[in-house]
Amino acid sequence: MAWWRDAVLYQIYVRSFADSDGDGVGDLRGVVAHLDHLAWLGVDAIWLSPIHPSPNEDWGYDVADYLGVHAELGTQRDVDALIDEAGRRGIRVLLDLVPNHTSDRHEWFVDARSSRASHRRDWYVWADGRADGSPPNNWRSSFGGPAWSYDPATAQWYLHHFLSSQPDLNWWNTEVRGAFDAILRHWFERGVAGMRIDVCHMIVKDRELRDNPPATDDDPAFLRMLGQRQVYDSGLPEVHDVLRRWRRIADAYEPSRLLLGETYVFDLAELASVYGGGDELGLAFNMPFLFASFDAPTLRRIVAETEARLGTAHWPVWTLSNHDVSRFPTRCCEDEDGKLRCALLLLIGLRGTPVLYYGDEIGMADTPVPFEELRDPVGKRFWPATPGRDPARTPMQWNAAPGAGFTTPQSRPWLRLGDHATVNVAAQRDDPASVLRLCRDAIALRRAHHELRRGDSTTVDGPPGVLAWRRGGRFVFALNLTDRDAALPAIEGRLLLGSDRARDGEAIRGALRLRRWEGVLVDAAG
Ligand code: GLC
Repeated sequence: MAWWRDAVLYQIYVRSFADSDGDGVGDLRGVVAHLDHLAWLGVDAIWLSPIHPSPNEDWGYDVADYLGVHAELGTQRDVDALIDEAGRRGIRVLLDLVPNHTSDRHEWFVDARSSRASHRRDWYVWADGRADGSPPNNWRSSFGGPAWSYDPATAQWYLHHFLSSQPDLNWWNTEVRGAFDAILRHWFERGVAGMRIDVCHMIVKDRELRDNPPATDDDPAFLRMLGQRQVYDSGLPEVHDVLRRWRRIADAYEPSRLLLGETYVFDLAELASVYGGGDELGLAFNMPFLFASFDAPTLRRIVAETEARLGTAHWPVWTLSNHDVSRFPTRCCEDEDGKLRCALLLLIGLRGTPVLYYGDEIGMADTPVPFEELRDPVGKRFWPATPGRDPARTPMQWNAAPGAGFTTPQSRPWLRLGDHATVNVAAQRDDPASVLRLCRDAIALRRAHHELRRGDSTTVDGPPGVLAWRRGGRFVFALNLTDRDAALPAIEGRLLLGSDRARDGEAIRGALRLRRWEGVLVDAAG
């Protein structure tokens, strides 16, 4: 049985988690030093954002060597030590695989652009421009502008769906496929438990490079922003061939390695398709859920549709924050304490695998970063329309001391610290009423009760603003996502865990009363 179905996953943006050597940048030894926190929290696996050598134009998502380790983050020995130390605590380690593109500094691309006749020319996507001197087609980069840059030395254009320093690989090329097979095997043999796969729904592009049609008003915001529907550069049927190929590799190991896709699709039927017949991705991120407005009718609809589309064969994954979006306490909770507690109960209580982003467990909010301190290329490019992704990437807030326990008091962190005097791990660990203790206790209950991990999920009827569901016929989660008191009729049992911890242990007979933004877990057998 797939281990990841029982797991709680935790994303670590390594540069921002813990700095062991005082250079202001988080590193692998820093992760090792905080494994006890993760074990205490009840995390089963960590996913590390890319750790490979990179010019850091896109902070590691521009890989220059898939088998190496970025010197700023550590060494190969540190990776082994991390896998080993994590394993000792029952924690698996996942890496981030970036197959859509490389850095332009990768030796493959250096070779490819050296001449039209170079051996690796076809590893990337090259094309002649149009007669009027414009790019080969109308595809757009997710980071703004055309998805093509002109290479004067060889007088052709190359494709890049992100920065021009992130050239797209050509996934029609069998050598490219072979190179990634070897990369996967390399890390799996080192003991890596799986891969989060970057931009995995769009690695294969139309061979004829046809123009995309325009977006319409009904399209999701992302496509309206691009101005086009990604008909020819995303979600092609051939993506599934690659996913099946990777799954065969992952399943050849014991236990099977997890393939967790970054699937930036807004259609839940399309999301279901990347699980294949159980022979493609093991888990696929649910973007409609991530971007949902935080109200009961919307969440109820998306959860129900996800359940219906994925059925019993596939397993959902739920996440509310990551390194690309505003953190959920800021994005959907207006920093309201009750709301963010409800959000954590939602993540941990839904049927599926939750993925926490570092800091979620303490309700860490975005930290505004002024223009002069921006590091994210997206922020720099689109400021002030959007602040970019730095506000969600600031250092982990371990304690209230100067440096936040992230780095030494004397060091300058690579991104400024947030409000660590108010929100930090140390203070919350000692406070039984804290967000951290709620998060940990919810995870512990999930670990203790099979029904909370594997039990089916059915909707519980109640007022429209209350989101309630039953797990395994026994446990009821109820979240009052309104700013008024509410009551759920006909609930019997014992309140196991409440966002207001003073209610833990309360007997519930008849109506379950909930205050504004209050969430609870009730054990009907209690
Ligand atoms: C993914 C990553 C993001 C990165 C982009 C390009 O969306 O999550 O951080 O910028 O891919 O690699």
